[in-house]
Amino acid sequence: MRFETIAARGGRDVPSASHPLTPPIYQSNVYTFETMEDVEGVWEGKAAGFVYGRYGSPNTAMLEAMMAALEGGEAAVACASGMGALTALFLALLASGDHLVAGRDLYGTTTAFLAEELRRAGVDTTFVDATEPGNVLAALTPRTRAVYVEAISNPLLKLVDLEALGAELRSRGVELIADSSFASPAVLKPLGLGATVVHHSATKFVSGHGDVTAGIAVGRRELMDRVRAAVIRLGTNLGPFDAWLASRGLRTLHVRLERQSANALVLARFLDGRPEVARVYYPGLPSHPQHGLAQRLFKNGAGAICSFDLKGGAPAVERFMAGLRLIEFAPSFGDVATTWSYPARTSHRRLSESELAALGIGPGLVRLSAGLEAVQDLIEDLTGALDCTRS
Ligand SMILES: Cc1ncc(COP(=O)(O)O)c(C=O)c1O
Repeated sequence: MRFETIAARGGRDVPSASHPLTPPIYQSNVYTFETMEDVEGVWEGKAAGFVYGRYGSPNTAMLEAMMAALEGGEAAVACASGMGALTALFLALLASGDHLVAGRDLYGTTTAFLAEELRRAGVDTTFVDATEPGNVLAALTPRTRAVYVEAISNPLLKLVDLEALGAELRSRGVELIADSSFASPAVLKPLGLGATVVHHSATKFVSGHGDVTAGIAVGRRELMDRVRAAVIRLGTNLGPFDAWLASRGLRTLHVRLERQSANALVLARFLDGRPEVARVYYPGLPSHPQHGLAQRLFKNGAGAICSFDLKGGAPAVERFMAGLRLIEFAPSFGDVATTWSYPARTSHRRLSESELAALGIGPGLVRLSAGLEAVQDLIEDLTGALDCTRS
């Protein structure tokens, strides 16, 4: 081979009698074939293999296999973001003229997507308070194809009784889709309870280290095949490196969530005892209106997120922000570092004041995502910041 050919082709095959312990990153956007029979076999899914980046990669396949197994589903599809997974899922599932019932307590962009994009596509959504299964059932019509809820809602940590709802919807042939981003499979396994599809922003606990934007849907194979077909056409696929990072994050999910949930419980109790705090929202506290349901649904703690209302509203939140030294403001959650966010200005900023008030998202509402730090350091930081809210 000449210089140019060596440069273009050389060094690709490294002989080795051993295997890497850590799976490699398959940073290739296309795969080569030796026979037309192999092309046909892989393309049609009859032989194992990969074709082209948008169709998937060994790294997305690893992430999907892990998530399907952890959630107890038949198959999974990884996407470039939680919203990308949602778009592909709905494109696969719904058609113009279909009806959707959704919880009113949803991530703000999800609400906007359902109310605007889906509506333009000819799918109407009825929003209900899904904490009461009866409200969901009352909103069903003969055209209802699916119910979409957040298993633990953003940001007020309201719960949905997936068991009760799943039993009713199954007999009516209506899908129950649970966004489980706030929980992760280390805390809640919606498929075992009655959901037919689990949806994640894998940007959060699944990856867990604040370095990936990703989404994933998990459910029965036949539906996931349709979701994958939608991803291929929409182009909401996840790249190999991000899939690799998310899979690596998953390896410690259960340990992270055990500790993060334990920290969240300590922080929720601490906040509950502070005079500057009007109310704490955490399903692990007996004061949570659905604490009994939480004890039934969650196996290893009640998750790593707790929200609270600061007395004194927005001005108190500004002083709280100025008073923090360790815990940083970050409009996301699920990281190994404890972060906080202000839903009225971040996740739910597109809602009007009256819409926020109707949901119970007040001007003093703070959302805290507990990380892995020594909880005493977190308490000291919160103590200082809460003291500042009174000055
Ligand atoms: C509950 C919930 N679901 C879905 C999403 C969307 O996920 P992504 O940002 O990965 O698209 C978010 C984002 O914050 C979220 O909080």
